[in-house]
Amino acid sequence: MSEIPESFPRVELGHWPTPLERCDRLSEELGGPRIWIKRDDCTGLAAGGNKTRKLEYLLGRAVAEGHRTVVTYGAVQSNHARQTAAACARLGLRCELLLTRSVPRSDELYETSGNVLLDELLGARVRIVDDADQIARALEEIGPAYQIPPGGSDEIGALGYVRAAAELAEQAARLSVRFDRIVVAASTAGTAAGLCVGAALAGLEARLEAIAVYEPADRTRERIEELVAATSRLLGADPPAGGREVHGDWLGPGYGIPTEEMVEAVRLLARTEGIVLDPVYTGKAAAGLLGLIRSGRLSGDENVLFWHTGGLPGLFVHPDVFTGRGVRSA
Ligand SMILES: Cc1ncc(COP(=O)(O)O)c(C=O)c1O
Repeated sequence: MSEIPESFPRVELGHWPTPLERCDRLSEELGGPRIWIKRDDCTGLAAGGNKTRKLEYLLGRAVAEGHRTVVTYGAVQSNHARQTAAACARLGLRCELLLTRSVPRSDELYETSGNVLLDELLGARVRIVDDADQIARALEEIGPAYQIPPGGSDEIGALGYVRAAAELAEQAARLSVRFDRIVVAASTAGTAAGLCVGAALAGLEARLEAIAVYEPADRTRERIEELVAATSRLLGADPPAGGREVHGDWLGPGYGIPTEEMVEAVRLLARTEGIVLDPVYTGKAAAGLLGLIRSGRLSGDENVLFWHTGGLPGLFVHPDVFTGRGVRSA
């Protein structure tokens, strides 16, 4: 893909291109636009997800610089941490995960199942750290390492989504579809920022509707803008002006806290399309998709792409929310 020079090292970790599918039953159910889904839950790396694309560039750099150990950060049920653990296993790197209790849950299911179970299965060392002192102590113990920021969201990680936009442009051209909108979850913002920069470079005209799932809209917007600028600078391109909006209406009481709209969206996608979302990211982003359609902000004659970013293991630590049985979530 010509937009990213070969001078940025990359390791191949996923199955590309990920599928692009129509959601006709969902469109019919909503009486709304033609809805498509980009299946980055099917990237092929240990239950898949958006971090596979970022890690191709982040770990490409780590390997090129000769690192043997990788450290990264996240919430206890971080999908990014799990994907990093899998990628490190595949590349023979030592993986150290520093996880923080950023969701009001500390029950046994939450801290031992879902992504945490996979982190350990994949051979990563998991440490739960609750403050800066504990992080400093852990880093001292670990020694020299390649540091990946939370969510893999720096301008190197965002290159994965610059590349993803080029992948989508090729698929859209093959199908003769012009996408009007892309709806995607945004937390540390590398996905949304990479897509903005990549869409402009690939000539995609779709507007990006980023649904904030971690911090309120204003802070999420700042993160996206900072990363759009840094990623454009890295590529020697002009930062794209406009073409993006951040919505804060579906975050609910906070990061990782279930909302009714999220539960409805997860159920609807499951029952109309057989597609499984997650409670923290894609479920809230899909709640945003439904809300934008029902309020008429996405009109019936548009082609709307929902970008599935993965997160399946996180579903299994919320049995109460989806079945009415099991642990309480707070
Ligand atoms: C499943 C899933 N979707 C979406 C996101 C958000 O991506 P980003 O951090 O690039 O905004 C994440 C990670 O934070 C994630 O794990």
